Amino acid sequence: MHSLANDISSYGQSPFDTLFESIAQDLIDKGYSIQSKALPIDLSEILHYHLINMPEYKFSEAAIGRQHNQQHNDDIRNDEIAWINGESPAGVRWLQWTQALQVYLNRRLFLGLFSFESHFAHYAPGHFYKRHVDAFKGDANRVLSLVTYLNPQWSASDGGELIIYQNPGDRAGLKVAPEFGTLTVFLSEEFEHEVKPAKRDRYSIAGWFRLNSSTPDKVDPPQ
Ligand code: OGA
Ligand code: MN
Repeated sequence: MHSLANDISSYGQSPFDTLFESIAQDLIDKGYSIQSKALPIDLSEILHYHLINMPEYKFSEAAIGRQHNQQHNDDIRNDEIAWINGESPAGVRWLQWTQALQVYLNRRLFLGLFSFESHFAHYAPGHFYKRHVDAFKGDANRVLSLVTYLNPQWSASDGGELIIYQNPGDRAGLKVAPEFGTLTVFLSEEFEHEVKPAKRDRYSIAGWFRLNSSTPDKVDPPQ
């Protein structure tokens, strides 16, 4: 049946609203959301195809810190990354989808998310990212972290879990297997997390929704 009421109620909604609402509700209840194999399948496949055809030179050793404070520290992380800047059709599709999530979360939770930055990450076998937070309290910069995985046929014995610690004293943490299309979202300042070594090459996209921290004499830089 088609009615005006339906037209009005669906106005401005995206086909991903069920997933976005589930993420929003989890953020309210717990501050994090783990959505198993939830990234739209066509988007996952486009990103995966793009990734496996990306030349190695597009990747560079990941750093810690931002801007002028960047350092390479292989004891903390040794993945390789490639920033997604919308130069490829796959990157554009990804940024459209994350933009729709940003709009939804801003409407629903009044988060004031202003921008989004993200990169592909490749963890070679044995590589890791030690326990860390993505943003420090007071920096009011990265607000929400988002991670998704592009590893078809991942099995438990491959390792490579993302461990999310629920508080600083938590030793066990929650384990997220880096399975194709699994999506994790968490408050960047609140949750320490870590990437365990894997037996296989492990591919993820990590991204951050940020507040605008521009001031009159300093334009908020990306990355
Ligand atoms: C990061 C990160 C998690 C992952 O890049 O900051 O924590 O599972 N990545 O790849
Ligand atoms: Mn992180």
